[in-house]
Amino acid sequence: MKLKNKIALITGSSRGIGKAIALEFAKEGAKIIVNYVNAEKEAKQVVQDIKKLGSDAIAIKCDVSDEKQVQKMIKEAVTKYGRIDVLVNNAGIVYDIPFKEKTAEQWKKTLEVNLIGPFLCVKYALEHIPKGGRIINISSTNAIDSLAPDSMDYDASKSGVVSLTKNLATELAPNILVNSIAPGWVNTDINKGLSKEFIKEETARILLKRFARPEEIAKLALFLASEDSSFITGTTIKIDGGYS
Ligand SMILES: NC(=O)c1ccc[n+]([C@@H]2O[C@H](COP(=O)([O-])OP(=O)(O)OC[C@H]3O[C@@H](n4cnc5c(N)ncnc54)[C@H](OP(=O)(O)O)[C@@H]3O)[C@@H](O)[C@H]2O)c1
Repeated sequence: MKLKNKIALITGSSRGIGKAIALEFAKEGAKIIVNYVNAEKEAKQVVQDIKKLGSDAIAIKCDVSDEKQVQKMIKEAVTKYGRIDVLVNNAGIVYDIPFKEKTAEQWKKTLEVNLIGPFLCVKYALEHIPKGGRIINISSTNAIDSLAPDSMDYDASKSGVVSLTKNLATELAPNILVNSIAPGWVNTDINKGLSKEFIKEETARILLKRFARPEEIAKLALFLASEDSSFITGTTIKIDGGYS
């Protein structure tokens, strides 16, 4: 088992990519702190699924953009498990809204959840992450080479995550390795508002002719959390099925 007895906090792990990472890590022996903001029932189900896999987990409600709630979540996590070996900053939101209708409030909320959230989680988790620990930030290909004007605030937040990753890797080397994953299209709720026509157009641009399954992103997260990636830090790895 690649994460035997490790403790992993995965933000936004009630659904989608975060849930897949939680289950993948649990299969490899990690105990999991499942974080959610609204979906309590789903988060509790993930905890049950992890227990069925033979590992342990707790669910903690916390809005990662709220400093006090993040402090409380970290305290609760450490009270339960003593430390955090792997922190995955996965929680994220997007507003797909044309530029002319996009509000400053939407911009602020996107940056608060997607960029300041990861900063806050690292800030308060850090003293509990031992030497050899890992931080994995979930960015997006929208940070790099697949820009979308309707989600320019999201794209900016995800570019910020790439920068945050490099800065944290520099700050925390050689004790903690910090990397980011940049997925392309993945089949999750975040994309449920997309039109069939748009999905068809985008799928045609992917060499593998489909969206990723969340489990495929989770495999890369497992690699970055495990000893297999012991010489990788400060980088962002794209996983997009070959998109152009
Ligand atoms: N799907 C894609 O195509 C894709 C591509 C590239 C990058 N990503 C990134 O991958 C990450 C996961 O996305 P996903 O596709 O799995 O989305 P999703 O299915 O919509 O799940 C989002 C998760 O984030 C949680 N969340 C949202 N706001 C939060 C907050 N303020 N505090 C704490 N948790 C919060 C949600 O909790 P609740 O369930 O409680 O609402 C949920 O667990 C995001 O950072 C996203 O930007 C996704």
